[in-house]
Amino acid sequence: VITKIKARQILDSRGIPTVEVDLYTNKGMFRASVPSGDTTGMYEAVEIRDGDKGIYLGNSVTRVVKIINEKISEALIGMDPTLQSQIDQAMIDLDKTEKKGELGANAILAVSIAACKAGAAEKEVPLYKHIADLSGKTSPTLPVPAFTVISGGKHAGNNLAIQEIMILPTGAGRFEEALQMGSETYHHLKAVITEKYGAHACNVGEDGGFAPNISSFREALDLVQEAITRTGYNERIKIAIDFAATNFCIGTKYDLDIKSPNKSGQNFKSGEDMIEMYKELCSDYPIVSIEDPFDKEEWEHIKYFSGLGLCQVVGDDLLMSNAKRIERAITESTCNALLLKINQVGTLTEVIEVVKLAKDAHWGLVTSHRCGETEDSFLADLSVGLATGQIKAGAPCRGERLAKYNQLLRIEEELGDQAIYAGEDWMQ
Ligand code: PGA
Ligand code: ZN
Repeated sequence: VITKIKARQILDSRGIPTVEVDLYTNKGMFRASVPSGDTTGMYEAVEIRDGDKGIYLGNSVTRVVKIINEKISEALIGMDPTLQSQIDQAMIDLDKTEKKGELGANAILAVSIAACKAGAAEKEVPLYKHIADLSGKTSPTLPVPAFTVISGGKHAGNNLAIQEIMILPTGAGRFEEALQMGSETYHHLKAVITEKYGAHACNVGEDGGFAPNISSFREALDLVQEAITRTGYNERIKIAIDFAATNFCIGTKYDLDIKSPNKSGQNFKSGEDMIEMYKELCSDYPIVSIEDPFDKEEWEHIKYFSGLGLCQVVGDDLLMSNAKRIERAITESTCNALLLKINQVGTLTEVIEVVKLAKDAHWGLVTSHRCGETEDSFLADLSVGLATGQIKAGAPCRGERLAKYNQLLRIEEELGDQAIYAGEDWMQ
């Protein structure tokens, strides 16, 4: 049973406070921490921060720590950690609000994850196996990683309006090979960028992608293509882009030069122009996935583009991992994949429900990190246990990103002959 819960404030990869929980049972201590993103929407679960501008610029989380140490501890001590849905329900009942604004989704998620780890230990099974059991899904699958190699948008201080360009080693035979292919391409890309613009252009963004100071994403795509050519992997590596277009949408137009000091006005595009641009991109590059191609409230354009069937169309800011938004998008055929950000949901039980929604609709599923991450590798086990087929955890560099990818290596090793890599079936 759960004997003690102790929370503390730690810092995430951006140096901003977040919550960590140590949950104790007779089997030992189980630790979990929660990530945080640059974009927060009105439909996601609420992250509570202290808001005192004099301390950590308002970002400290001591109130949340206290809530865990007092209210949540009191409610959960004595519970069986294998009963995930009862633990999560107890916190939902205690919170009583729709968006977890009373206790804080950051408090609830940290405890929910720690309890899941304790539950796996109680059953003496690997974490991914316990998660697979909880979801009713029995065949753990190693996801195809979407490695961020170019960063822009809110994640980097360059002129690139779009948020990230990713590479997917769909042609790898195993996850281990996918990681090698991703790493090699990343290092070739570093060389390509250095040759073209100089070493200073190799600085990286928040999720580890290179952030050369260019404003043209076609130029960035060409760099990535050149790196892939140098590795010789060619058609075994595909490209995905997160446009995060809400961040450069002004009224009904999209300003692809929004971060550039020398705006010419040439890149001010209507939704229709954007559709044409996406069509051209999909025919010029091996693009298999596009995330948030339009503003988060521009459902019609996304629907039209998705209907063309040119690639996977992922809803991130569009859906905010919110069950109601996902249901609407399924009914209206708005997009065909979900970017799953677990801190927008708040409990593991609800994460499993949201995943089920997406799977029943035959959508693609991307288990996703946030730009502010911690060393917690839970996301890796989650992606395997829920067999999401895809994981987006940043570049194949930087500790908080590698925490996830390295854990996937360990899981694959442990599964041995039984290991399945999603590979070409990444969208299932
Ligand atoms: P965020 O970015 O964590 O800053 O929200 C992640 C993403 O947009 O995919
Ligand atoms: Zn996104």
